[in-house]
Amino acid sequence: MLSTRFTRAFGVEHPIVQGGMMWVGRAELVAAVANSGALGFITALTQPTPEDLVKEVQRCRSLTDKPFGVNLTILPSINPPPYAEYRQAIVESGVKIVETAGFNPADHLPFFKDAGIQVIHKCTSVRHAIKAERIGVDAVSIDGFECAGHPGEDDVPALILIPAAVNHLTIPVVASGGIADARGLVAALALGADGVNMGTRFMCTAESPVAQQVKEQIVANTERDTELIFRSLRNTARVARNEVSREVVAKEKEGCDFTEIAHLVAGARGRKVFEDGDLDAGIWTTGQCQGLINDIPTVDELVSRMVSEAEALISRRLAEMVAEPVGAGVPR
Ligand SMILES: Cc1cc2nc3c(=O)[nH]c(=O)nc-3n(C[C@H](O)[C@H](O)[C@H](O)COP(=O)(O)O)c2cc1C
Repeated sequence: MLSTRFTRAFGVEHPIVQGGMMWVGRAELVAAVANSGALGFITALTQPTPEDLVKEVQRCRSLTDKPFGVNLTILPSINPPPYAEYRQAIVESGVKIVETAGFNPADHLPFFKDAGIQVIHKCTSVRHAIKAERIGVDAVSIDGFECAGHPGEDDVPALILIPAAVNHLTIPVVASGGIADARGLVAALALGADGVNMGTRFMCTAESPVAQQVKEQIVANTERDTELIFRSLRNTARVARNEVSREVVAKEKEGCDFTEIAHLVAGARGRKVFEDGDLDAGIWTTGQCQGLINDIPTVDELVSRMVSEAEALISRRLAEMVAEPVGAGVPR
C-alpha cells in the first residue's frame, strides 16, 4: 500500500488517477479504474448532453461502489458547450470529486464547493497551480510538457515542473504527463508529488473503449511518434503523429489561420479514429510515454503491477542504495 496525502484526502486506495479523456473517459473504463483502487474520471463533454452525463454517472455507479469523479474541461471554443448545465448535471449526479482543466475554474468552484464536491484542478504551470490553490481547490494535477493533450505554452517537462510546483503549494500535488509505469510513479513521489495522473497508459488497457487498432498503434509507437499541433494558435496539443497531424503542422508552418485547418482537426474525425480504428481518419491524442507502453493489460493488472513494482523499487532498489556502504563494518 502506498499511502499519501492524496489517497487520504480523496479516500482512494492507490495514488493513481485516470484523468479526463475525450471519447475515452466513459463508464466502463472509469469503473474499472475505481474497482482497481485508483481514481477515474468520466469526461463530461464526451456525453452529448448534460442529461446523458447524469445517465453515464449512473451507469458507472452500477459497475462500481468505489469513488470516481467527473472531468469538466473548459477550452477555448467557437461554439462553447453549455458549461453551466454540465456543471449542474455533475452536482445533481451526486459525484463527490471533480477534475477541472483547461481554464481557471473560479466560475464553477463555488457551485462544486456548496455541493460538498472536492475539486482537483489540472493545469500546466506553477503560476496557474498557485492561483488554483488560492481560489480554494483541494488538489492540483500538473501536466508536464510530455503529456498527451494540452501541455500549455511554457514547454517545461515534469522533471522540473513538479518539484517547482511542490515548492510553492501546500495542497496535494498530482504529477501528470509521461507516466506509464512504476518507475514514473516512484519518480513522481520522489519529486514531491502525492500521486500520479495518467492518460495514455489508461487509454491502452483492455477496458478502454477505443478500437483495438489504436491500442496496438500505441504499443508500436515510440516516444518520438507524437506531434505538437496548434503551436501557431498558442493552443498547443500533443497528438499521435499521422497523415493528418503532418498536414496540420505543414499548414501551420505556411502561416495558415484556423479556418484552413478546421476541417482536418474536427472532433468528429478524431472520434472516428477511436471508434473505427482508422488511424488516419483524424487527429487523436496520445503522449510521449507511449514509448514506454508495450502491452494492453486490464486496468486491474496495470494498477496492481504499478503499485507492487513501485513498492519493490522503494523498499529494495532505492533502499539498498542507502544501505550500509561497501566495506562498512570491516575494520580499517
Ligand atoms: C485520448 C486523450 C484525450 C484526452 N482528453 C482530455 C480532456 O478532454 N480533458 C482533459 O482535461 N485532459 C484530457 N487528456 C489529458 C489526460 O487527462 C492527462 O492529463 C494526460 O494524458 C497525461 O499525460 P499522459 O498521457 O502522458 O499520461 C486527454 C488525454 C488523452 C490520451
